[in-house]
Amino acid sequence: MPGIWAVIVAAGRGSRFGSPLPKQYTPLGQESILSLTLRKFSQHRLINGILVVIHPEDIELFHQSCPDFSTRVKLTTGGDTRQVSVFNGLKALEKECPTSVLIHDAARPFIKEDVITRLIEKAESGEASIAATPVVDSLKFSTGMTIEKNISRDGLWQAQTPQAFPYDRILSAHQQAAGRNDFTDDAAVAEYAGHPISLVESGRENIKITTADDLILARNMIKLTDTDGHLMESRTGLGYDVHSFEEGDHVTLCGVDVPHSRKLKGHSDADVGLHALTDALLGALCEGDIGSHFPPSDPQWKGAKSDQFLIFARDRVNARGGKIIHVDVTLVCERPKIGPHRESMTKRMAEILAISPTRVSIKATTSERLGFTGREEGIAAQAVATIQLPASAD
Ligand code: CTP
Ligand code: MG
Repeated sequence: MPGIWAVIVAAGRGSRFGSPLPKQYTPLGQESILSLTLRKFSQHRLINGILVVIHPEDIELFHQSCPDFSTRVKLTTGGDTRQVSVFNGLKALEKECPTSVLIHDAARPFIKEDVITRLIEKAESGEASIAATPVVDSLKFSTGMTIEKNISRDGLWQAQTPQAFPYDRILSAHQQAAGRNDFTDDAAVAEYAGHPISLVESGRENIKITTADDLILARNMIKLTDTDGHLMESRTGLGYDVHSFEEGDHVTLCGVDVPHSRKLKGHSDADVGLHALTDALLGALCEGDIGSHFPPSDPQWKGAKSDQFLIFARDRVNARGGKIIHVDVTLVCERPKIGPHRESMTKRMAEILAISPTRVSIKATTSERLGFTGREEGIAAQAVATIQLPASAD
């Protein structure tokens, strides 16, 4: 496919990071570092294709830790140095005839959308450019632990990635540089081949996760902000629902069919657990309740499966730039017994919400034979959802 391609280099071993798992596959927030990086490029409206350069031993690891991208990116294998990995990536794109490429480190998941856009604009107008940030600290030169001289920071920039080039130009620069394996970035390769390169100012948040301390910093950044750097705030929502029993042979609870001597009465499949949880998420968003989005009077919801209500609420969280942190559902009934089904319910709710099962809790209690649940006239459910949303000014 011609157009603009991202080449993500992810074949390094992370020796400075010091963990047996290469750093790009380490979890950061709810996914791996590499998966977060790929999301930035796959969500960018101007990127036409993504190529990931991985280590030959990491193929299975890649599919496990980037499940959303398994079938959406092209893969090739890297070499012993970053320079060789990039060159392999560029060669693997020859058939695609890209106009421009953005070469980016897998270990930089905090790249911002507007920096990508500005780099693309330059590359598409025939200019090579790199993301870079001005040096802000005073600089000292030392070979031991004593300062030997002060170095002026005037005019000094720290090179980051992406580095963007018209495709043919950077491919031929890498061909020329192939005998020398000492270039640590592609700007150095392009400069060696005689090309001018301009700077696109980027922020200091675009760190390259290099050491274990960088991962702590990145984890703190992701806790407080989304990956675009917006400050996040926590919201909690509460949901409650009741359905009565009628003639039947099973109930649907938390997305799972459970055999029972009766069924729950309702316009949809009457899944009280999912209804309470949908309301909890809508409550956290301050976006009404399940009835305002799916009126029981509307015939199209007759017999509907309730997972679509929950998917709607999940998608609303995503559309607002938020994420679901934790959900907790309590089912109140004498029968059926929930314990034997708890695991499959947890799994199903995690699937619907697209979060880890470790963030889903399902509890059950009887009401000691008191009240309508105690008399087995129906089932009640309560749910609490915790989400993060970009903080609003009001
Ligand atoms: N990279 C690569 N092939 C290599 C070396 C590095 O694709 N032979 C990639 C890394 O996976 C990383 C990026 O280039 O995304 C930047 O490299 P760096 O941060 O140095 O990562 P590592 O080489 O893995 O780490 P270290 O230098 O500490 O071993
Ligand atoms: Mg390296």
